[in-house]
Amino acid sequence: MLETRAVLKASIDARDALTKLGIAAARLPNAAIVINAIPLLEARDSSRIENIVTTSDELFQHQDGTTASTDPATKEALRYRTALLAGFASLRDRPVSTRTAIEVVGTLLGTETDVRKITGTTLRDGATGDVLYTPPSGESRIRELLADWERFLHDDDIDVLVRMAASHYQFEAIHPFHDGNGRTGRIVNTLVLVQHGVLDEPILYLSRYILDRRDQYYRLLRAVTVDDAWEPWLRFMLEGVRSTAEWTASLVAAILELLQETDQLVRAQLPKVHSHELIQLLFTYPYARIGNLVDAGIAKRQTASTYLQQLAGIGVLAQRAVGRERIYLNTKLLALLEGGFASTA
Ligand SMILES: Nc1ncnc2c1ncn2[C@@H]1O[C@H](COP(=O)(O)OP(=O)(O)OP(=O)(O)O)[C@@H](O)[C@H]1O
Ligand SMILES: [Mg+2]
Repeated sequence: MLETRAVLKASIDARDALTKLGIAAARLPNAAIVINAIPLLEARDSSRIENIVTTSDELFQHQDGTTASTDPATKEALRYRTALLAGFASLRDRPVSTRTAIEVVGTLLGTETDVRKITGTTLRDGATGDVLYTPPSGESRIRELLADWERFLHDDDIDVLVRMAASHYQFEAIHPFHDGNGRTGRIVNTLVLVQHGVLDEPILYLSRYILDRRDQYYRLLRAVTVDDAWEPWLRFMLEGVRSTAEWTASLVAAILELLQETDQLVRAQLPKVHSHELIQLLFTYPYARIGNLVDAGIAKRQTASTYLQQLAGIGVLAQRAVGRERIYLNTKLLALLEGGFASTA
């Protein structure tokens, strides 16, 4: 039985925290502010679990695709963000399914990907090389198991959060792809919560929790296989949802506070430059380019350039030359996003 008392209690606590996150996010004047930032942070940390190391600086600088990053790790993390947002968009048409996972992994890896056809896949200990787990093999067997996984996802008799946590184990144990199973499974976690309305936007920053506890995460996955130890696994995941939701809600609240402060400061010091749209844009693009203002219809090039320079003049933005272009950094926001203000613990 999955739904023990302790598990259900953990689920209720997690759900409360998600509700509070939803309330915090709804106070933002523009959802794009967190929908841009949090999936990028999630992408950075989720990719880092796989030793794909990029910085939020690189990511935010290239977030709008105006300039292409040459760094492979940055490209890969940006694909994670793209996969998450595409998965989110797909929920308008259909629930999470095997097809969703196949689309997600394809976007993530940057190449069309289907379930494993090769045999002999094993998960090994990085240090000793010992085999920790041997996932099932055989394409038709994997497809059958994915169909079971999909049925389980749609079993409304089971608490949604418990379903997310249990199905994450199932998905990782099936290990349907040659690579990207962890990242795909983490994206699917968010999608399951959004699909069931427990989360409105894909802004749960759960990978950070897992990254901080990677060994425990692997150990608990293995304990389900070896000892059928579901309760510790489910409690671990549900506690992750709770603490991450709480952490994300305080991040969102801090962003909102900074946004309001910035709005007032600019209104007082540069009344001719000030508009709510402009301030919101500086929070949607912490690395702003003249083109971002032009595209948003805030001003024509020349005026947009003057605005950004004036904002830099009062210290709201910092200028940086990148090649022949100038970009304007919302440094206070970047410091918040960089995680300097709280930890997940
Ligand atoms: N003993 C285990 N049983 C089941 N699944 C496991 C076990 N150990 C690890 N895993 C899963 O395998 C994932 C790694 O698989 P894979 O390399 O295909 O994914 P990835 O997305 O490339 O990597 P990562 O999750 O490290 O970012 C881990 O994230 C974890 O979810
Ligand atoms: Mg891998």
